[in-house]
Amino acid sequence: MKKLGILLLLIAATNLWSLAQTVSIGSPSGKIILNFTIKNGNPVYTLSYKGKTVIEESNLGFKIKDMPEFGNTFTLENKVTEMGVNQPWTPVWGETKTIENNYNMLQVTLKDNAPQAHTLIIVFKVYEDGLGFRYEFPEQANLQHFIISEELTSFNLTGDHKIWWIPGDFDTNEYAYYTSKISDVEKKTQKRDGNIFTATPIQGSFVQTPLMIKSPEGIYMNIHEAALINYPCMDLKFDVTTYNATATLAPDAVGNKAYLRAPAKTPWRTIVVSDDAREILASKMILNLNEPNKLKDVSYIKPMKYVGIWLEMHLGISTWDYAGSQSASDAGSDGKTVKKTKHGATTESTKKYIDFAAANGFGGVLVEGWNTGWEDWFGKWKEDVFDFVTPYPDFDVKEVNKYAQSKNVGIITHHETSGSVTNYERYMDTAYRQMAALGSHALKSGYVGKIIPRGEYHDGQWMVNHYLRAISKASDHQIMVTAHEPVRPTGLHRTYPNFMAAEAARGQEFNFWSDGNPPEHETILPFTRIMGGPMDYTPGIFKIKKSFYIPGAKEQVHTTLAKQLALYVTLYSPVQMVTDLPENYLAKPDAFQFIKDVAVDWDDTKILLAEPGDFIATARKAKGTRNWFVGGITDEQARTMEIDFSFLDKGQKYTLTIYKDAADASWDNNPEAYAIETIVVTSKTKLKVNLARGGGFAMSIFPKK
Ligand code: NOJ
Ligand code: CA
Repeated sequence: MKKLGILLLLIAATNLWSLAQTVSIGSPSGKIILNFTIKNGNPVYTLSYKGKTVIEESNLGFKIKDMPEFGNTFTLENKVTEMGVNQPWTPVWGETKTIENNYNMLQVTLKDNAPQAHTLIIVFKVYEDGLGFRYEFPEQANLQHFIISEELTSFNLTGDHKIWWIPGDFDTNEYAYYTSKISDVEKKTQKRDGNIFTATPIQGSFVQTPLMIKSPEGIYMNIHEAALINYPCMDLKFDVTTYNATATLAPDAVGNKAYLRAPAKTPWRTIVVSDDAREILASKMILNLNEPNKLKDVSYIKPMKYVGIWLEMHLGISTWDYAGSQSASDAGSDGKTVKKTKHGATTESTKKYIDFAAANGFGGVLVEGWNTGWEDWFGKWKEDVFDFVTPYPDFDVKEVNKYAQSKNVGIITHHETSGSVTNYERYMDTAYRQMAALGSHALKSGYVGKIIPRGEYHDGQWMVNHYLRAISKASDHQIMVTAHEPVRPTGLHRTYPNFMAAEAARGQEFNFWSDGNPPEHETILPFTRIMGGPMDYTPGIFKIKKSFYIPGAKEQVHTTLAKQLALYVTLYSPVQMVTDLPENYLAKPDAFQFIKDVAVDWDDTKILLAEPGDFIATARKAKGTRNWFVGGITDEQARTMEIDFSFLDKGQKYTLTIYKDAADASWDNNPEAYAIETIVVTSKTKLKVNLARGGGFAMSIFPKK
């Protein structure tokens, strides 16, 4: 009898023990639920949305180098919850005036029973729009400094969902998107775009994040990360038969992943989820998971539109290098004609761009090719290409900065590192000091080519630390940063609001010298790359076919002119290039008016219509005004959109100007045909708009006096 009693007690205790190993926590309304369990000594989780499992049992944890005893025997030692956390905040710049930040938090402390027990903490934050979780290694005697050899985090999807993805690659994200079933990833990654110089794609079923997913039941998910600091970037490896995606961290030159010293925190792993695609785009979860603004001085941080000595080089009309101006000849893109080229960044030409910016209310002029080194910049793997301070003889750096300031315009200084980052690190301080002395408060940096030190990847921990060091150092000199070819953003612009934008995806430039970006490209970017932060895409091309300048050229932007206007609204960025040559804008002053009018900083944003790969329509309210701007874009299909203006103030009349595709427009046959109309609207208006194949529309909406 007594024996039975003890047995029963033991069973009860075991039950209790195993029960205690499972914890659940919901979002504030309970619509998203996270379950955390320890199974056979290993932490796992599941996620459900509106009662349906969206992530099946998935692994958590790590393998630590030379420490096989880590993990495997974890038990739950402690749990802490914080319910109904509500911390709204005001961004320095952004899509809305204030940002809701409302979640429930669960923190679990795990201990393994290895001879020297290790402690691992996992923090889960469940929002109305998704889940974020991160690992913490608290200070502990038996885990002080260590190397992560694998992160075990996985995202076990429930079926062969549709995904929008680019191939896994630790050196570049400048790929066109694939749309396929998960089971097709491997097949497609064999066939890759040929025109990316730095591409080092990983063989197998690897994809990059932000990864956009849609289940057959119409549940949308986006997997990415937040606050990527002192840790490598994460790609995902799919098991194409179980649809399980596992974290794959960018290695360093010798194959290690992350060097950590406790106490340490990893980035957040993020899953944004909704059955409404518009809510994915409206999500601020990734920003919320980042730390608040760390910069005391934000006085110099100003969203802006800018022009630049840029497109002329991408078209081959002028050169970055000075020697180009000496030889003044180059093969035309048809291989037969010889076209004359000249150095782009001259004092005289820069002044013309400054005048153009000033006349049209644009805040900046980007100048590329101003400094010595461009003769050797590409593909040579030279360490000391640029010094970032010495201008070419035909560019008076003091004079152009002075002239710009006299016209209330700022020079955006360009630092192309050509991947030689050790060299850039040596010059950064001096170069930023020079910028500050000249009064140039904006920097565009670039990381084209393989990284020096050799063997490091653009997305490895060493480079992740470099990008942030540059942003932080730039802030000491009152400099805003836009980086090209960095690791893709993870919401760090909340913490460092001088980090304005990044490229980190396939930008407009590909349209000028490659097979380009298909018409659907810009309908996918907001669901993928831009989930992590603003993109310097460079919209606004009015002369759409390169053959309009250079006879025989095949390249073109896969767009209509009206769609180029729409991109100022649908592709969010606080810095937007007014990309085309001034003469092309001056030839179409009526369409150019929209670019002059459109804002770059917003009090409110409404995603009106959205489906990844198909279409997006967005309305935004300009900061400190009652003016709205709307942009709508489509993929290669023509379509009609109905815009409902219920976001406007009730009882107010507005003058709406629409810039739309002409009836016979299309991206391939008649891309530059547009029509402009002005009407009066109220919050009760509904308007049908026709979008051409590869087309779009833009609207400016001003309150009627
Ligand atoms: C690639 C960048 O994306 C582009 O904007 C820049 O003009 C070139 N590199 C040269 O730095
Ligand atoms: Ca680029």
